[in-house]
Amino acid sequence: MDEILIVDYGSQYTRLLARRVREIGIYSRVESPQKAHMTSDTKGIILSGGPQSVYSENALKLPNWLVSSEIPVLGVCYGMQLLVQTFGGVVKRGETFEYGSTKVIFSEDPIFSNLPKFSDVWMSHGDLVEKLPSGFLRIAKSELGVIAATCSKDKKIYGFQFHPEVSQTEGGMEMIRHFVFNVCNAKESWKMEDYAELKVKELREELGNSKVIGAISGGVDSAVATAVAVRAIGENLKCVFVNHGLLRKEDELVPQILSQIGIDVKVVDASELFLERLKSVRDPEQKRKIIGKTFIEVFEREAKSVNAEYLLQGTIYSDVIESAAASSASVKIKSHHNVGGLPERMNLKLVEPLRELFKDEVRELGEIVDLPPEILNRHPFPGPGLAIRIIGEIDQERVNVLKKVDDVYTTILKENGEYHNIWQAFSVLLPVRSVGVKGDERAYGYVVALRAVDSSEGMTASWHKMPFDLLRRISSTITDKVPEVGRVVYDISDKPPATIEWE
Ligand code: XMP
Repeated sequence: MDEILIVDYGSQYTRLLARRVREIGIYSRVESPQKAHMTSDTKGIILSGGPQSVYSENALKLPNWLVSSEIPVLGVCYGMQLLVQTFGGVVKRGETFEYGSTKVIFSEDPIFSNLPKFSDVWMSHGDLVEKLPSGFLRIAKSELGVIAATCSKDKKIYGFQFHPEVSQTEGGMEMIRHFVFNVCNAKESWKMEDYAELKVKELREELGNSKVIGAISGGVDSAVATAVAVRAIGENLKCVFVNHGLLRKEDELVPQILSQIGIDVKVVDASELFLERLKSVRDPEQKRKIIGKTFIEVFEREAKSVNAEYLLQGTIYSDVIESAAASSASVKIKSHHNVGGLPERMNLKLVEPLRELFKDEVRELGEIVDLPPEILNRHPFPGPGLAIRIIGEIDQERVNVLKKVDDVYTTILKENGEYHNIWQAFSVLLPVRSVGVKGDERAYGYVVALRAVDSSEGMTASWHKMPFDLLRRISSTITDKVPEVGRVVYDISDKPPATIEWE
């Protein structure tokens, strides 16, 4: 099976590159610069972006073997700058940075064939290429005149200053496709069914006859991880659903849906314990850590009762990357509870079969392992649940209010058919009260924010352009059915600069 090797210099988007390559039917393997090596199946190499400057003292370098190799290479952002510097060009700090959507002008290179001469691409750099090495041509420049792409036909090297893997880059997939099929001559040979088989085989080998406890959180990820693990080890997987009291109505139904397809789940109600530990806690990172730690404690107890050695978790790649556990070179954004919140010493070994996958790949895998659409088509839901959607302190009253609001919001979206046009929709309870009028009385109610975003993998997102009439209906139904709420607002922030969740 042909493969593309992706060398990870710590970019937020490294796995997205890997996934884009898999999307076009080629297996991709991600390795650190220190461990990167070719096999007889390697048809090309992509160097990722990264947070460092290539000229800084401890900058990560190209693997030595790669410098003299004749294999096709595509360098993205830091990857391009590294190629330029290694082959004799100059990289320096720019006077103006280019971040976000940027206009570029393409030259007539086959890698841009069929693309408009002027296109929008996604940039994220402070350093720039000042001088190209000999034999390298400039094949794109930005409106500011910055070298946006280069190529050396002799060495079969391409470099992009922008990120072709990000959906905001127009024609990014065409560029990757051209590199993989026409420059590397790779042959399409990869599909998600192969990945499912590979994971089942790997889990069987790793787990042998050991007992594993499966953490069902209510979300898509843990359900898919469970369905894959059931295929691998059958009855040796014991599934537990911990109700931490911070779930939405729809999450509480997940154990029933799973039991209908033959996956037995034990429900443990630990809501009092979680709410007690979260009392007076306001800091979101603290909330995540407490929830992560308490989860593990409850699981360890359950695990003991079945003699489990392993804990199965539905951690996916965006959880890993944003907690900076993806590679030693990446930078921490927030600690998702499955990852950053784990206690230092755990009595269970972790199994995370979805660690390399993005949300939509997880859904695709879920279909292959026969999960029903009620589970697969649900919007993502964070492990810490409503705890990070109640800004500030959490108590039972606030949980009840937010649960009711969320139920109204999602029910209307589903009735209206809008739910499936949205990547993730939820409501947030704000720590402020606002004056209103009810009947002829002054009222002083909660403020809730509605959020809905369009995204394909959660790494970037745009606010969803919700029809006004629908917003009006949602707002008035919330204030009718949840009298504690006096004001409803709609969040119109993109990611970046905001994140999807508010905490
Ligand atoms: P952000 O807020 O980081 O969200 O833009 C990206 C995706 O991750 C989810 N998310 C979490 N998932 N534990 C999780 O399991 C967490 O602590 C957490 N924080 C955010 C979020 O809902 C979105 O889908």
